[in-house]
Amino acid sequence: MPRDVVTIDDLSEDEIQHIFSLADEILATQGTPGLPHRVRGRLALASEHVLATLFYEASTRTRLSFESAMLRLGGQYLSSADPKTTSTAKGETIADTVRVVENYADAIVMRHPCEGAVRVAAEYASIPVINAGDGGHEHPTQTLCDLYTLQREKGTLKDLNVMLWGDLKHGRTVHSLVYGLARFGARIIPVAGQGLGLPEHVVRRLHRDYDCTAVPPEEMGAVEQGEVPLDVVYLTPDKPHQRSLFTDLDGQTPTRLPANAFSSIDACYVTRLQRERIVGGGQPGDYTVIDKQFLEGKRYRDSKVLHPLPRVGELGYDMDNDERAVYFKQASYGVPVRMALIAALLELRPGLLSKSAPKRRHLEYHRQTLKCDNPLCVTMLETEQRYLKQKYLVINEEDHLLVRCVYCEHETAPACVGHESTRKYAPNDSPLDPHPDLVFFNSPAEAKAAGYSPSRE
Ligand code: NCD
Repeated sequence: MPRDVVTIDDLSEDEIQHIFSLADEILATQGTPGLPHRVRGRLALASEHVLATLFYEASTRTRLSFESAMLRLGGQYLSSADPKTTSTAKGETIADTVRVVENYADAIVMRHPCEGAVRVAAEYASIPVINAGDGGHEHPTQTLCDLYTLQREKGTLKDLNVMLWGDLKHGRTVHSLVYGLARFGARIIPVAGQGLGLPEHVVRRLHRDYDCTAVPPEEMGAVEQGEVPLDVVYLTPDKPHQRSLFTDLDGQTPTRLPANAFSSIDACYVTRLQRERIVGGGQPGDYTVIDKQFLEGKRYRDSKVLHPLPRVGELGYDMDNDERAVYFKQASYGVPVRMALIAALLELRPGLLSKSAPKRRHLEYHRQTLKCDNPLCVTMLETEQRYLKQKYLVINEEDHLLVRCVYCEHETAPACVGHESTRKYAPNDSPLDPHPDLVFFNSPAEAKAAGYSPSRE
């Protein structure tokens, strides 16, 4: 089975660090004198390989840095940057496209406007598939560049205070990044524009899957209030799966934050308003501009300023000659990091990745009784509905069960849950262990139509 990178969770922490070590090595040997973040020359590592870049959405950095990475590894690339010129315009499905392209290339990099589209590609292709951004869902290779930049600039990821600024709701780079930061033990300080906070399912997952603890600002003791419109801060425990230091979401344990917890912000990750993902285009509202004046305070003295780019007004040009600005370096790291990722996936450098992807921790649900309710999910596309089956992971919440779409990763609570063995159903409102016998329904009417009867009247 080839390894794919569709979400940041497709790579373990060790694998991410192996990729970073290879990127370091590439920069050490192929860095430009005086500009050590920039790769020059060509290696012969991928001289027998071809990379296909399939982009169904606009891109500058991601596509060009992947193509540059492949060239600098000594390989070749095939590029399709305009969906109007491929058979997609004739109604070809993702599954068919990748089963054709796999005959022409050794790996596929895909960007698509639909959430979960690249997971579909990965399921059908027999070669590695890399997600270059799928709608507002994830952008894992941008996260690799972001984490790599932070690690190079700060020497570590652990215990960093990282402020995330802007459109945290629609920004796919942010969604991958928060999981990455949580896994490496950084603190996440989300500062969203009005109505642009992290999606609920992302917040839930931070808490549930990564033991990330949310602390509202009024509980943060020494933190000066009022400077930025904070809703909450996410803290990662010292050790994985240990939740002793900080308050829980239900506020049971008293908060004991280090007194100087936020006296210093290590990094400020700025993002633009994702107008193309907002019906009606969206308004910047009170989207504060990050510039020299904003970053004047003592707290920001050592804050590295990152941005996945492009910027459109939320990041002042006066920052460009400020030594805290690292966004162009971050874009430059796209080449060595993607070179290392390609080398890992194509096994040009063996041993960087395990044979199989990190295990999914939740039970899979394959019965076709539910429909993903995310209108942007790939399963909503008529073309893909010809063959694509609904698939979910079953998640245990305290007093009900949730299902997470395997493609777009949105979560919903089905109205009813039944048992196939007894053909009885009940409202999904009590604790229940995920089990292969379970059947979910969107409504009692659907359960009845499927031949199930209520277990309590
Ligand atoms: C980002 C993207 O496409 O999500 N750009 C990138 O890949 N560097 C961020 C953005 O478009 O705002």
